[in-house]
Amino acid sequence: MSSGQIKRVQTTPFDGQKPGTSGLRKKVKVFTQPNYLQNFVQSTFNALPSDKVKGARLVVSGDGRYFSKEAIQIIIKMAAGNGVKSVWVGQNGLLSTPAVSAVVRERVGADGSKASGAFILTASHNPGGPNEDFGIKYNMENGGPAPESITNKIYENTTQIKEYLTVDLPEVDITKPGVTTFEVEGGTFTVDVFDSASDYVKLMKSIFDFESIRKLLSSPKFTFCFDALHGVGGAYAKRIFVEELGAKESSLLNCVPKEDFGGGHPDPNLTYAKELVARMGLSKSNTQDEPPEFGAAADGDADRNMILGKRFFVTPSDSVAIIAANAVEAIPYFSTGLKGVARSMPTSAALDVVAKHLNLKFFEVPTGWKFFGNLMDAGLCSVCGEESFGTGSDHIREKDGIWAVLAWLSIIAFKNKDNIGGDKLVTVEDIVRKHWATYGRHYYTRYDYENVDAGKAKDLMASLVNLQSSLPEVNKIVKGICSDVANVVGADEFEYKDSVDGSISKHQGIRYLFEDGSRLVFRLSGTGSEGATIRLYIEQYEKDPSKISRESSEALAPLVEVALKLSKMQEFTGRSAPTVIT
Ligand code: G6P
Ligand code: ZN
Repeated sequence: MSSGQIKRVQTTPFDGQKPGTSGLRKKVKVFTQPNYLQNFVQSTFNALPSDKVKGARLVVSGDGRYFSKEAIQIIIKMAAGNGVKSVWVGQNGLLSTPAVSAVVRERVGADGSKASGAFILTASHNPGGPNEDFGIKYNMENGGPAPESITNKIYENTTQIKEYLTVDLPEVDITKPGVTTFEVEGGTFTVDVFDSASDYVKLMKSIFDFESIRKLLSSPKFTFCFDALHGVGGAYAKRIFVEELGAKESSLLNCVPKEDFGGGHPDPNLTYAKELVARMGLSKSNTQDEPPEFGAAADGDADRNMILGKRFFVTPSDSVAIIAANAVEAIPYFSTGLKGVARSMPTSAALDVVAKHLNLKFFEVPTGWKFFGNLMDAGLCSVCGEESFGTGSDHIREKDGIWAVLAWLSIIAFKNKDNIGGDKLVTVEDIVRKHWATYGRHYYTRYDYENVDAGKAKDLMASLVNLQSSLPEVNKIVKGICSDVANVVGADEFEYKDSVDGSISKHQGIRYLFEDGSRLVFRLSGTGSEGATIRLYIEQYEKDPSKISRESSEALAPLVEVALKLSKMQEFTGRSAPTVIT
């Protein structure tokens, strides 16, 4: 058994180690500066209650992006230095963000104890590689991201750090499952490398009816396709879709996790999931004559998802509404009913309409998964989602890409349960159109202006807030731009009081609310790593069944024009078009 002594290493603070919505994300070149990662990790240990560190067990893994392997070895040694008793690592350092959440909540060690938290190494949907992004965040005992009280403390610690603790241990082989034991100052310290998928697969099997999905996937009328964009989702897709559910190996695209995501942008949307979008018949470069019936993608750490039907895009806002509307019937985990549902503010109100119909508790929270986590811990929310391609439930405390795919497959299987051998299956598009016919349709689009000068972006937002002081003035401008749109009846900055912990979050997005239920929302992204990203969300509600089948871009054109001119987008940003439209 190797042994080692705790070493105190002198260090000095780095600027800018403030964790954002989802931890600290920076370029690899920033993270690889001597002591940069160490400072952040030590600041995290110092921010946690000591019983969550000393003698505790931690999970350390991530989406496998460039620099993860080195980071894992550094954190293992520092964990030993800080008195952690054991570290759990997914094989090859891979665990999706939802799988980390599941492991923290569910996995039990040989001594009967669980993990007290996790370091997740990911920059989510941002590209990876030597010149791209790396990230680290800490999740708590409930499997959810650290609350602001902790992240603020971490940040404060990073500004004052003088030393970090580590032990010179040999590198641990994380490529094979197994336990390595070290002696550290008379005590034992273990590193347990385990199969990345098994805990997560077990959890999914306890939620969904795998047999009914298997039946659906075996129908010759149903064709399926999943794109992991070379993220960690590939490791789970193979196990779940192919080995457990019998999908063909050829239905998996880009399912080998890569450190640089194959050079791509591992973000499941219509812009970045190019190959899948083409395969589903949704792009001009359509390569297949007959696209699959169902397609889905996940991001680098597999918490985000995109759901597609044959030549058909399901907006994330519709996706969560449809899952909520069908969960009780189609998904065994929800068979006793939903505790409540929730969406983030910029997400369309499709979920609100379902909640009203089904008489469910409903919450509108600021952008960021942590707000859902609080509701879930309080037993108030079962299903939730965000326009930013995040969907999930209270089975864990992170959004969950593979879960969303399984939820959709369950719904499709349920809709076809008496029809699986029939001529024509109920399709994704049928399900969505039927939903619109029942609940009305929320036309929806999001314009992103990435890497805008931060000062200019602030000015644009300030000018929008300024305008809000006079609704008559706003309406005069709006009518001058386009007389077809409804009156603006409300304008504010979204503010949220957490009904569980009472905390208040201000300035969570600028809203313009129209008389017919349409909305314009402007927000600055909290996840970018360069400059500022302005997000513009545009939504219009249509109840009239004869008007629910228009092209979204055409239906929204008047509101888009109003939004761009009202905000003076081009004037402030110098951009004549958004970087990405979703
Ligand atoms: C992360 C969070 C999501 C959130 C998203 C918003 O993915 O986990 O909960 O919706 O960031 O990102 P943005 O760039 O719009 O702040
Ligand atoms: Zn992600």
